Amino acid sequence: MRNTRNPFEYGGVVSGDKFCNRQKEKADLRKAIRNREKLFVFSERRFGKTSLIKSVLARLPKKQTVAAYVDLWPTESEAAFVTALAKAIAESMTTSAQKLLQIAKQFFGSLAPAVTVNEEGRPEIGFGVTRRAHLSAALDEVLDTPAKIAATADRDVVIVFDEFQQILEYGDDRVEKKLRSVIQNHKNVGYIFLGSRKHLIQKMFMDRARPLYRAGGHYPLGPITEADWAPFIREKFIAANKRIGDQCIHSICEQTQGHPFYTQHLCHVIWELCEPSKAVNDQLIKTAIRVLLERESYAYSTLWESLATNQRKFLKGLASEPAKVKPFAAEFLRRHGLDSPSNAQRAVDALLERDVIDRENGSFLISDRFFRLWIQTVQLR
Ligand SMILES: Nc1ncnc2c1ncn2[C@@H]1O[C@H](COP(=O)(O)OP(=O)(O)OP(=O)(O)O)[C@@H](O)[C@H]1O
Ligand SMILES: [Mg+2]
Repeated sequence: MRNTRNPFEYGGVVSGDKFCNRQKEKADLRKAIRNREKLFVFSERRFGKTSLIKSVLARLPKKQTVAAYVDLWPTESEAAFVTALAKAIAESMTTSAQKLLQIAKQFFGSLAPAVTVNEEGRPEIGFGVTRRAHLSAALDEVLDTPAKIAATADRDVVIVFDEFQQILEYGDDRVEKKLRSVIQNHKNVGYIFLGSRKHLIQKMFMDRARPLYRAGGHYPLGPITEADWAPFIREKFIAANKRIGDQCIHSICEQTQGHPFYTQHLCHVIWELCEPSKAVNDQLIKTAIRVLLERESYAYSTLWESLATNQRKFLKGLASEPAKVKPFAAEFLRRHGLDSPSNAQRAVDALLERDVIDRENGSFLISDRFFRLWIQTVQLR
């Protein structure tokens, strides 16, 4: 039978027919790149930032653009930042081993570049360890390179920093400071910064004391709407000779709140449970959720037990009320047995710190949408 592989992917970058819509966001980012904007794109975890930017970068005209994508996740120090950026820039300019070394030597001579061939047979550039004493100069050199390329080559240059909040782990704010001047001075280069932890991003950009305070434009990435999910989900079922009605799609989107990762994950399980030539119904969705929650049950129970009483009350409140509820209002506090706004505030601070909840339009969301369903079914019965 054709199409027997599950078409719903969760975790990792999605592309091609695994990637749902985001037409407007793609157009906005393309425009930002063309206009050499400095843009901070942020969202909750696993909302599709990486997939989105990669899909935009993949469609930029190759000959006219230098697009360097730098994943800062594995970088723990300034030295790692410097080599990750140098590597991304050099590799974005060519795929030939010979040229790679030439380019690396031309731009990053002081970093002792060398080319090796990786497991897939592709050339890869590496750099000698930068000595601490030279680090500051190397940082300047690497961060000034994009503007130099833009000035000499007749190409659009865009640099993407993914997992940008990672620079907070470097121990001092030299990278942040240097980036501030780069953002102000590199008129001919586009910079896109992607960040996951909303409150870290907010800390970095909304705090006057930080070097990057108000340094660029903000682009919050939202969930995928039901209108966009509907055709995406429907067609994948049809292609496997399975059916799913609008009402069921509505129910899925409601339970996952349109969160891309959880929507794909739930659809994955539903698709698996649905027999060919059959249609999805409410019962099947319920079974899928039960299966998912059973898998997570140990982790969720452990998390729940680690929370203070007020934190649990607060979460129960969030899980049982509609989105955008005002959680410090007297009504909310009374309904959920929280004594005072200051108690609620303390619970919020602790839950934010642990990423159990996230800010959302003056209210809060439970980050893990399945944990929210678990609270609804296990704690609010
Ligand atoms: N446009 C999309 N269409 C369909 N699914 C998507 C889309 N964007 C994201 N997803 C789902 O979300 C998952 C995570 O996507 P991605 O890694 O791009 O998000 P992210 O925001 O970069 O995550 P992280 O916070 O971990 O960096 C994907 O594996 C996929 O299941
Ligand atoms: Mg990502």
